[in-house]
Amino acid sequence: MVLRKPLLLFLQLLAARQIADQSAPQWDYRDTNRWIADYPTCGGSQQSPINLDHYTSIGSLKPALKFRNYAQPFAGRLTLVNNGHTADIVLPETVRGPRPTITGGLLDGVYEAQSVHFHWGAPGGARGSEHTVNGYRYDVEIHIVHKNMKYGNAQEAMQHPDGLAVLAVMINIVDIPQTYYPGLNIVFNSLPRVRAANTNTTIINQLSLNHFLGDVDTRNFFAYRGSLTTPPCSEAVTWHVFPRPLLISREMIQRFFELRQTNGAPLWNNYRPLQALNRRQVYRRKGGI
Ligand SMILES: *[C@@H]1O[C@H](CO)[C@@H](O)[C@H](O)[C@H]1NC(C)=O
Ligand SMILES: [Zn+2]
Repeated sequence: MVLRKPLLLFLQLLAARQIADQSAPQWDYRDTNRWIADYPTCGGSQQSPINLDHYTSIGSLKPALKFRNYAQPFAGRLTLVNNGHTADIVLPETVRGPRPTITGGLLDGVYEAQSVHFHWGAPGGARGSEHTVNGYRYDVEIHIVHKNMKYGNAQEAMQHPDGLAVLAVMINIVDIPQTYYPGLNIVFNSLPRVRAANTNTTIINQLSLNHFLGDVDTRNFFAYRGSLTTPPCSEAVTWHVFPRPLLISREMIQRFFELRQTNGAPLWNNYRPLQALNRRQVYRRKGGI
């Protein structure tokens, strides 16, 4: 196919523009109110995180979450990246081929797992979960990000209210843990290898997504419709938050505090302040199969 010169030039300009767009404005957690200037959606009315309340949530949500391929080992190794905002793991396919998926709960459709990352506090006992439950903040919050399979990629999914589903698993620090989480410990022990921003390391152990859920009680959760908690704050996320925390030693959680931002400052308290519920409904599912 032969393109006429002006059209070719136009397409080249378009390509250059798209590359430029990928170097999005910088942001950090010092002044989250400033995110709105560069990312207007952060000022929207369906933002996350929020406080989840036992008394005002609707306790009638029946469907359980269904997990598929969560026990299947990933094919190939995981890469843990310090991207300057969090420690992020992009998930490959499983040895069986398909990615782990979730259905049920507040979801309509099938959502496949894309990545896992963490939000944490600071040395000296500052807690760092994003969601709170009855005003209570946990030490760490794990986010397992899934994409609706009807959309081709995460960028496209972010443009739709039903685009993404995130599972939130809470962690609290305890002095003497009663349970050992081998998969999570492998991830925590890899953190010192990504102290500097924009570095990564390979996790050679064979893990499955179940390792990131630990033994959390997945029958109990809060669910609501909200947003990404980082810019561009797209209102595309159906949240399922498990309120019963995993209990893990301080020694393991302290490894997060060694990570640094792109400017070299410590990466501490990388959680967004609570957002207004506005006219949204929070659903609660309790126990049962
Ligand atoms: C990991 O780091 C290497 C070396 O800096 C880089 O080439 C590669 O693209 C990085 N991978 C990811 C997934 O960030
Ligand atoms: Zn997150």
